[in-house]
Amino acid sequence: MSVPSDSQRMEKIVSLCKRRGFIFQSSEIYGGLNGLWDYGPLGVELKRNLKNYWWRVMVHERDDVVGMDGSILMNRAVWKASGHEDTFTDPMVDCRSCKARLRADQIVEKKGAKQCPVCGGKDLTEPRSFNLMFKTYVGATEDESSVTYLRPETAQAIFAQFKNVLDVSRKKLPFGIAQIGKAFRNEINPRNFTFRSREFEQMELEYFCRAEEGIKLLEYWKEERLKFYGNIGIARDKLHVLTVPDEERAFYSKGTYDIEYDFPFGRQELEGVAYRTDYDLSQHQRASGKSLEYFDEETKQKFLPHVVEPSAGVDRTVLALICEAYSEDQAPDEKGKMETRVVLRFHPRLAPIKCGVFPLLKNNEQLVAKAKQIADLLRPHMFVFYDEGGAIGRRYRRQDEIGTPFGITVDFETLGEKDSALCDTVTLRERDSMKQERVAIKDLANLLVAQIS
Ligand code: GAP
Repeated sequence: MSVPSDSQRMEKIVSLCKRRGFIFQSSEIYGGLNGLWDYGPLGVELKRNLKNYWWRVMVHERDDVVGMDGSILMNRAVWKASGHEDTFTDPMVDCRSCKARLRADQIVEKKGAKQCPVCGGKDLTEPRSFNLMFKTYVGATEDESSVTYLRPETAQAIFAQFKNVLDVSRKKLPFGIAQIGKAFRNEINPRNFTFRSREFEQMELEYFCRAEEGIKLLEYWKEERLKFYGNIGIARDKLHVLTVPDEERAFYSKGTYDIEYDFPFGRQELEGVAYRTDYDLSQHQRASGKSLEYFDEETKQKFLPHVVEPSAGVDRTVLALICEAYSEDQAPDEKGKMETRVVLRFHPRLAPIKCGVFPLLKNNEQLVAKAKQIADLLRPHMFVFYDEGGAIGRRYRRQDEIGTPFGITVDFETLGEKDSALCDTVTLRERDSMKQERVAIKDLANLLVAQIS
């Protein structure tokens, strides 16, 4: 079988995402809007499973992290203090020939001359700073006094609420505050499907500590985050840790790692893990005039904690999960002839639908009733899809293509018609191996729950 090239592979993934309802272009019926995407019925499940698992691992399974959910619009003073208003920019270049607006790092250089990557023109403007924040106005008047921005990262809400959360949670250092939410960046060139979008979601943890613990915790969180990606089914050899060099790191950071993934379009960042020192809290303390210090009961000292921040993109991780899961193999069709099978090999805990339930025949009342009963039995535990349409092989293929890890078939043996010992048992098919085993209906829920949680 020929292996598709990386660009063919990406085209197939994008087309599958649309065809099966993972990801659609936003406002598609009006021609779309660049850099904006909608998640369809399966995409929303995958995304939710990812966020829930992140929350479980980062908040619920730890006693040193609490969560919060901040507003998207905040007082403009937050963005002045954080430095975003003045410095959250990308250098932008205009091509005078084709009018393309380009990020300076996308300009190609051929034989020492800078060229537009769109038309090859050499008539380019000097780079100038373009602020990536979306500006808006709060209230009825549209003037300077009502300006604010859609947040470009979720982190600042955590810093701005640090004192409130500390007071109510009564945590001792080191401890963290976690948040998942939307962020907005007016990217100059959104590209690579959802990879660089203008609206996206982040999963961020700000883990506060004493200054002397910062470097050690940076290492700790890098390792924890690598483990996380393994636990959602991303192969370790496709993940890479880039130590961000001094000259590319934010000036306040004492160390930053980028966790990168080998997408079909190249190696790209999934998550940043940064030791941000006490920069953010000290900026907000200075600008607000409110103390954000931590009081150490034992030493009776007050000080500003430092922070280590693992900051992951939800949409990028969803895209990595789909790219990682996409595979083609050969399997026999109804007549035993080999055909190409498209399979999304999602880890069961991430798969949008956990289990398909199929009556062997749709025109047999008893088979249908039993299959519906089984679907109802499983529904409180997992997302189940009932399907009675078409040949059983076709129904399996449809579920393979969207990554459903288990298929349950109700047949005449289930009804006890062939062998009374097999009464109330079903065929359980596993997606990747296509192996089938006979399982008692009463054992199904426990057996499946153990594999999807
Ligand atoms: N609070 C730190 C922060 O926001 P960042 O490296 O700018 O750091 C963190 O963003 C993560 O957010 C990135 O690693 C990426 O996964 C995601 N992200 C950033 N910009 C994005 C975009 N335009 N589209 C999709 N995801 C993006």
